[in-house]
Amino acid sequence: MTLRHLTKVSDFTREECEAIIDYAIKMKADLWNEKYTTKLKNKTLLMIFAKPSLRTRVSFETGMTQLGGHAIFYSIKDSPLGIKETIQDTTKCASRYVDMISARVFKRKDIQDIAANSDVPVINMLDDFAHPCQIMCDFQTIKEKKGKFDNLKMSFYGDCYNNVTYDLMRMCAMFGMDLDVACPDDPKYAPEQEVIDECEEIAKKTGAKIRVVHNALEAAKNSDILYADSWMSYGIPKDEEEERVKTFMPYQVNAEVMAAAKSDAIFMNCLPAKRGYEETAEVIDGPQSIVFDQAENRLHAQKAIMLFLLGIMD
Ligand code: CP
Ligand code: NVA
Repeated sequence: MTLRHLTKVSDFTREECEAIIDYAIKMKADLWNEKYTTKLKNKTLLMIFAKPSLRTRVSFETGMTQLGGHAIFYSIKDSPLGIKETIQDTTKCASRYVDMISARVFKRKDIQDIAANSDVPVINMLDDFAHPCQIMCDFQTIKEKKGKFDNLKMSFYGDCYNNVTYDLMRMCAMFGMDLDVACPDDPKYAPEQEVIDECEEIAKKTGAKIRVVHNALEAAKNSDILYADSWMSYGIPKDEEEERVKTFMPYQVNAEVMAAAKSDAIFMNCLPAKRGYEETAEVIDGPQSIVFDQAENRLHAQKAIMLFLLGIMD
């Protein structure tokens, strides 16, 4: 079997993502079927964390338990990546012990180095370029809520120089969906050209329209799914907060923005959220918000991702 990794959503094809999503939905409905609970017996996942996490850590750990396997939480506080020894050496040793390696790191280069040196599948649990596990679960949630992917428009608000935004762009491009990302007109907060180019290339084949806009109400027009992410991603210095809040406030998802979208639009946030920043409490705690269903699906989608990478998603 060819060794595969998940460093960003476009490492997989649309068909593979749909198979993973469908399998996640099937497992979710039949959680304790022995067919699933023994799948990862005697298998171990190493989880390397260079940044904090609630959802990712707990859902991966629980997912491994539910599938009959074991997960190891490894904080880089115990041994900083690339300091005492090279990432290459860390990875080569780890892949002699475990069946999968997952990592949450600061730089995309770190994930690439881990993947390049691993003999076992590597899963990106968030870097500065992608958050594929999040977006897989988001699309599972969209399928559950909307029953389809065709003819949907998504809009994203706020900081678009951002891991979650990038994988949403890639996934919408792969799925032929329309996506408006609304951000300040400043390269510091807009998607990197490399990501725009990758999405344009994918969209040529799928017909997706991925646009960068600078007006929240324009992005909301005809939108089926409104998505917000933190204005203070992990690692952004506290002293930038005041400036960022001022800059992003025109992109806050509030009642006016929700009203500009379709009447049956849903609101998503990968969480952690800060009410009064990227969205108002009225929106995230309101009837259109599906953020906790979305968070729950981290568990199910990631279980399916692991089985897929190990070639046992059957
Ligand atoms: N959405 C997400 O990845 O949450 P955590 O940072 O809590 O893992
Ligand atoms: N963009 C956010 C996502 C958190 C899940 C961050 O990097 O902190």
